[in-house]
Amino acid sequence: MKMTAFEKYFVNRPSHTRTVAARARELLGHINYQLGWRYLDVGCGVGAAACEIAGASNLEVTGVDIDPKQIEAARAGSARPNLHFRVMDATRLDFPDGQFDIVATSMVTHHIPKWERALDEMVRVLRTGGYLIYSDKVFPHWLARIIRLFRLMGFPSTTALESMAASAALVKVHQVQRSGEVDVIWLRNG
Ligand SMILES: C[S@@+](CC[C@H](N)C(=O)[O-])C[C@H]1O[C@@H](n2cnc3c(N)ncnc32)[C@H](O)[C@@H]1O
Repeated sequence: MKMTAFEKYFVNRPSHTRTVAARARELLGHINYQLGWRYLDVGCGVGAAACEIAGASNLEVTGVDIDPKQIEAARAGSARPNLHFRVMDATRLDFPDGQFDIVATSMVTHHIPKWERALDEMVRVLRTGGYLIYSDKVFPHWLARIIRLFRLMGFPSTTALESMAASAALVKVHQVQRSGEVDVIWLRNG
């Protein structure tokens, strides 16, 4: 779902985007990536993380977001030959299977009522042996269910994420849990 203007005011402000970019770079540091690997940022917003990764590495970076205004801002803020932005729905990624070496998503799945579908798509476009970098809010299963009932938003629970990872043959290689948020890196094994 697109964010409201009120949400965008907080999410797109420079102090926040600097934090997002630094987090993306820190997480990428846990992966022994190779020159030219393809990196997809799903729900890239105004492109802070994608721009940081493209500038700090030799990766081929693509950012996608459902909101054309966010993509417009991302394009306006960056011009690098290894950085591309496209308007796209995370639940219907317009890429072939196994297209990317790294798929990253930050603070996006809780905006998507069908977040399971979005994660299925991220796994589909990730090659076997590639990495899924996931950051978002997480809640206990019972609370996630209640929030979903009333807010019509995604809100994955830790239990649901673990079960999705197991069925998609994702092996956890890194995790940091803060209050109500998690960063996880999974290796796609199958
Ligand atoms: C809270 S912002 C996060 C932006 C950025 N990843 C960050 O960490 O700052 C959530 C973003 O997800 C995008 N989004 C929401 N639903 C989406 C969907 N179904 N497909 C793609 N992007 C989506 C929104 O437009 C918004 O830019």
